[in-house]
Amino acid sequence: MTDEPQLRLGVNIDHVATVRNARGGDYPDPLRAAKIAEKAGADGITAHLREDRRHISDADIAGLMEVLTVPLNFEMAATDEMQQIALRHKPHAVCIVPEKREERTTEGGLEVAREENRLAHFIAPLRNAGCRVSIFIAADQRQIEAAHRIGAQVIELHTGAYCDAHAEGRYEDRDRELEALREMSAFGHSLGMEVHAGHGLNYETVQPVAAFPEVRELNIGHFIIGESIFRGLEPAILEMRRLMDEARA
Ligand code: PXP
Repeated sequence: MTDEPQLRLGVNIDHVATVRNARGGDYPDPLRAAKIAEKAGADGITAHLREDRRHISDADIAGLMEVLTVPLNFEMAATDEMQQIALRHKPHAVCIVPEKREERTTEGGLEVAREENRLAHFIAPLRNAGCRVSIFIAADQRQIEAAHRIGAQVIELHTGAYCDAHAEGRYEDRDRELEALREMSAFGHSLGMEVHAGHGLNYETVQPVAAFPEVRELNIGHFIIGESIFRGLEPAILEMRRLMDEARA
């Protein structure tokens, strides 16, 4: 045993709901996927209730709050509607993400520095309700400092640019992005915030990020759900867990 805490895996189940919604019925059920993820050793479940409800629904969030034994990380935009929903359910963690209706996925980190005042007021009631507030953010020192000033306990670093560069074979860009993630996870940690990371991670890209000692949690969804088509959800999660542990060792 080392005294370094284990790297946690949060499994994002949004895209089980994407497949369900393609037919408008109730199959496949994201709650069933969440229970399988728990059994496979997920340390938390992540779900993003988007303004347009394109995947996760309000009923899914209520259901997850009821059935989960691991913490729910509720991702949401900084809107009044979402704040009310979060305050009603009081999930373990609330991750504030930027959201644009026309985007395919969460494209960038939150612009905290420019909206510092509004966000400080926005997260205060969530913190008071006992939710851990996390801010989804680019590996950018200015944004991290702003997240710290507004009182966020957690930052989640956006790994999308690193993963895209890898997928497109732009290896110099990839290595530069990885270096920024490494430096900024150490910086966030030095300010006393817990550091998470996620977006676009897969079996090829997870290990260099998992190896950063300051990163406490990875949130991974799209790849795991996609891979579960080929090998099943539990084996897909177990392999991700194995790679994370290997990188950490
Ligand atoms: N972390 C955050 C804050 C996200 O918004 C998302 C996507 O919803 C993820 C992690 C997971 O990204 P992916 O589905 O690409 O693994």
